[in-house]
Amino acid sequence: MSRKILIAGNWKMNGLLADGAALAKEVAVEVKKLGKPECEFLVCPPFTLLTTVKKALRGSKVALGAQDCHIAEKGAHTGDISPLMLKDCGCSYVILGHSERRADHHESSALVRQKAEAAYKAGLKAVICIGETEAERDAGKTIEVCSAQIKESVPDSATAANTVIAYEPVWAIGTGKTPTTDDVEEVHAAIRKVIAKKLGKGNANKMRILYGGSMKPANAAGLLALPNVDGGLIGGASLKASDFMAIAASVCKK
Ligand code: PGA
Repeated sequence: MSRKILIAGNWKMNGLLADGAALAKEVAVEVKKLGKPECEFLVCPPFTLLTTVKKALRGSKVALGAQDCHIAEKGAHTGDISPLMLKDCGCSYVILGHSERRADHHESSALVRQKAEAAYKAGLKAVICIGETEAERDAGKTIEVCSAQIKESVPDSATAANTVIAYEPVWAIGTGKTPTTDDVEEVHAAIRKVIAKKLGKGNANKMRILYGGSMKPANAAGLLALPNVDGGLIGGASLKASDFMAIAASVCKK
């Protein structure tokens, strides 16, 4: 099954205008050097950098994404950003349900699902994040938790064209710890089975499932070579163009 690898950078709450533009330019230049790479690239800066990064990426094949959106198109929602606004800024993707938003902003899977529906309506693709906590893993509940999150967070209208799943064990994010490659493959295969039940085999075979959580140049090749891993959602290592591109280099040939 040919699923195009997606190398996605989640910049989180990092970057001021000058360094955001510089980082995006560096990534754009390096991706251009790859000619027609066998994978897709995406960067997701904070809202304040979207238009600056869009300009810096001009003429490159790197897509732009945001890290969250509201469920409404517009209105009285102080401090929020709508999917339509993201589309207007040049975004084609939005990350939804990241564990930091689930924890810091009490986002439920039901809300994530509504956000994904709103994103589709605005013409955005959703990168829907799921993943277990350390306590859940220790209790042997990883697959149960991830399956429930998929069922509840992914809309029935999701397709392989409008949705990417990111499996990010909460305990692996920003910690330098990662599951074994066997564990990652087991969870990704289980996620694909749940997607098949929910959205049909066709979508399940084509939908990309990214791994995220301390993906670095040193461990990327092993993770990205797994049959059910279709790319990476990269936090810390996406803030340095050389690390981000070194991760890509393990799978994106010239
Ligand atoms: P990390 O973050 O690569 O810094 O662990 C990944 C993520 O949270 O998306």
